[in-house]
Amino acid sequence: MARAGTYPVHSALATAAEGVLPDPLDHFAEEHLRQREVCGMLDTIAAAARPDRAVTIEALRHLTTALPRHLHDEEQGLFPSLRHRSEPDDEINDTLDRLDADHAKTAQFLDAVIAALGRIAGSGGALTAEEAETVTGFAAHERRHLIVENAIVLPLARVRLTAGDLDALRQAMVLRRAPDTNTDSTGDRDANWDGDGDGDG
Ligand SMILES: [Fe+2]
Ligand SMILES: [Fe+2]
Repeated sequence: MARAGTYPVHSALATAAEGVLPDPLDHFAEEHLRQREVCGMLDTIAAAARPDRAVTIEALRHLTTALPRHLHDEEQGLFPSLRHRSEPDDEINDTLDRLDADHAKTAQFLDAVIAALGRIAGSGGALTAEEAETVTGFAAHERRHLIVENAIVLPLARVRLTAGDLDALRQAMVLRRAPDTNTDSTGDRDANWDGDGDGDG
């Protein structure tokens, strides 16, 4: 008789659970560090006459998988939880409104950035001046956003969220990372970006 732990859905969940740090706020902080790294890659790609194709593909993978998932973790988990637990004196709601608006702008930028990187990953060569401006503008937008989340949102969340809030937040993050159980079809734009620009795996 098969043990429960041998079923694929359970192994997918276990693998996903290993991928999320025990404290989900630490996990957000780690992902913010990675996002800063990717912003540096984007600036390097935009400035290069011959961008490194491996770096371009690495950035594309991040922008099509990890970043959309991170936005969902915040919009559906961290931000609502913090709104619920914050005190009036925290005055966090306006900040969270601005961060939600930032996410909408990120989503607007993202298609053009992915298209530009996909074009050079597929064909080689450099970004056009217009593409480079879009890519560096996106990186600057993301850096400004990260500063607010690191300086205001995460420290307040560490004070206000309860152990139960953190458990629920982490559980949702694990489910979002388990492909067999992920019902959030908007979580990944293209989890199988294959480097030839057509995303067909
Ligand atoms: Fe974030
Ligand atoms: Fe964010």
